[in-house]
Amino acid sequence: MQKFQTNFYQIPPSKLSFEQAQQELNQLTIFLKKLDQAYYNKDMPLVDDATYDQLRQRFNSIEKNFPQFIRQDSASKTVGVKPTNGLKKSTHLIPMLSLDNIFKVEDFKEFIKRIQRYLGLTPKELKNLHFIAEPKIDGLSINLTYKHGKLIQASTRGDGTTGEDVTENIKTLRNLPLTLSDYFPDTIEIRGEVYISKQDFFSLNEEQEKNNKRLFANPRNAAAGSLRQLDPEITRSRPLSLFVYAQGYSDQPIADTHEHFLHHLQRWGFTVNPLFKVIQNAQEAEKFQQEIIYQRSALPYDIDGVVYKVNSIALQNRLGFIGRSPRWATAWKFPAEQVITRIEKIEIQVGRTGALTPVALLEPINVGGVIVTRATLHNEEEITRKDIREHDKVIVQRAGDVIPQILQVDPSSHSENRAQPFQFPTRCPICGSIAEKHQNEVVRRCTGGLTCKAQIEERIIHFCSKEAFNIKSMGKKTVLEFFYLKLIQQPADIFRLHNYHETILKRKGWGEPSLKNLLTAIDQHRKMPLDRFIYALGIRHIGIATAKILARHYSSYHNWKEQMLAARQIGSEERLNLESIEGIGPAIADEIAAFFTEKHNLITLHDLEKELTIQNVQYQQTGKLARKTVVFTGTLSNMTRSEAKNIAERLGAKVTGSISQKTDYVIEGHDGGSKARKARELGLICLNEQDWNKLVQSEET
Ligand code: IVH
Repeated sequence: MQKFQTNFYQIPPSKLSFEQAQQELNQLTIFLKKLDQAYYNKDMPLVDDATYDQLRQRFNSIEKNFPQFIRQDSASKTVGVKPTNGLKKSTHLIPMLSLDNIFKVEDFKEFIKRIQRYLGLTPKELKNLHFIAEPKIDGLSINLTYKHGKLIQASTRGDGTTGEDVTENIKTLRNLPLTLSDYFPDTIEIRGEVYISKQDFFSLNEEQEKNNKRLFANPRNAAAGSLRQLDPEITRSRPLSLFVYAQGYSDQPIADTHEHFLHHLQRWGFTVNPLFKVIQNAQEAEKFQQEIIYQRSALPYDIDGVVYKVNSIALQNRLGFIGRSPRWATAWKFPAEQVITRIEKIEIQVGRTGALTPVALLEPINVGGVIVTRATLHNEEEITRKDIREHDKVIVQRAGDVIPQILQVDPSSHSENRAQPFQFPTRCPICGSIAEKHQNEVVRRCTGGLTCKAQIEERIIHFCSKEAFNIKSMGKKTVLEFFYLKLIQQPADIFRLHNYHETILKRKGWGEPSLKNLLTAIDQHRKMPLDRFIYALGIRHIGIATAKILARHYSSYHNWKEQMLAARQIGSEERLNLESIEGIGPAIADEIAAFFTEKHNLITLHDLEKELTIQNVQYQQTGKLARKTVVFTGTLSNMTRSEAKNIAERLGAKVTGSISQKTDYVIEGHDGGSKARKARELGLICLNEQDWNKLVQSEET
């Protein structure tokens, strides 16, 4: 499974610092976009729905705690992604929004309470509040526009506003009326879900395999891939079906309740899911939830929860929408699916930072339409805690379309003749170096550093990546090619590639022009801003935002390196200073110190210094402190003098030690002494610590 990498993920949203919150929101925005892109446009999910929901929930919760960081392009304001696959675009008359997700009965009670509060319902009125519960079909949402009773357009959801025109494709479905009979409005949008049955999904994948074509990850993706075809004949050959469940635009009301609306849809000839039910309170919802979970595996199609909608259309209209979802509906999602299978072997993988990760190779098993063959075991402690051994029967939960998790050993295994407890290796399986586990750490790491193939390969790829050196033509494929040719064995080798001109030209796919382009691009990157350089080193826990914090604080590479070398000493002033930087803290400081403790990393740095010019941080040219002269006097209670100096410099000020007519600001801490007196005599602007903090804050936002 792709990992969302953040340093703060374990911290409850309300406890994040401003910097952390902003950083995580930025990271999540990018990550969610990437997931949406894969899900909606490539029909190829990168994570399972439960993981996606968790990430979205965390995102929403951080936004709630830090509304000042809500971005214009926030994931909470968007649904899906803009379509890209060559089909004509079409704009919905009313946007196709999404639903809020809930996971437990307390959430449902809260959903009802919110409705009660919003509508100001008395307890008696609340008793008359009804909901319609409908299975949440795991397919592809579709918008069908009928004009004068005729189907004139069908489009996918796309980004919620604009979707893809799949009119001709949808007409190939068998359970969809092309004309409406009886009473109908002039214009109406009907919304529903296109899906493929589980059985048909398997047959389709068998067919795909026979024809050497890409397999679909699950029925939802098969349905999406089948509908979003340029050639409707392909869609016709795929067994797609449709359930309808909602209305978009309509120039006349259809019904007074959602239940009546569903009956109306049936009369028009649509297929409505037959399992819908009227429910009145959280208790009934919980019961319905259980009934549906019980039926789930026997249903011929995939569902991933139950949607609850306020039955009265008048109340729906009053409740309206908030952000991307209606106040009148919610989706109570099912917990992730679980199955039992056997571990064939436990394998150890080594990542970029040298972490040894155990992975269970499983007897292949079908979990909700996905064949699962591997599951992460996280780390050594997890294996011990759960006492997981090779050949055990285990309960697997699909927590990712790629790598699912093992929850526990199936109790029946305990009566079997089990293998010996798993011995976690103390040496790296790739390079044979000692693999160490530090106190208070759960992860065992290879100490081979850049001498370990597993790490160096990944580190060079990271070094060339977009936010680091950003050498476009040094993508993963090229890096690996050069790595295996031994032209690049460590990052600095990239800058010496010109020495291998002849060797590279002999390789397939390389010619004078492409090589020249590559070498020019590399040369253009010999100047590197400090923050990108720090990030490029791939130190654990140092994402681009943290690298920026460090670069701003230490200003120059040499200053940073010198201070980090000194910070290796626990308790040193430099270490304390590093730990106390907002957004750094002891855990990150430990990682940086560990990096600077490894000899091979120092050699790498030394080597890179010879090839590169690492640029100092550019200070701000505008703002209240730009080009001003600032003097600090006395003791500041919130930060050290050197921190305050760094901040002032970052904001463009020059910090000096003595007061003169040229001084613009004097920042007076506790016990300002003679300098403070002199400043007053000269009539200079004196700020106390509070004013100073305010000034800094206003400049930094
Ligand atoms: S009602 C304003 N009812 O779930 C949104 N949606 O997560 C109205 N879905 O976009 C949607 N079954 O694609 C509704 N019975 C059902 C549904 C359903 C599946 C999908 C739909 C929607 C998504 C929201």
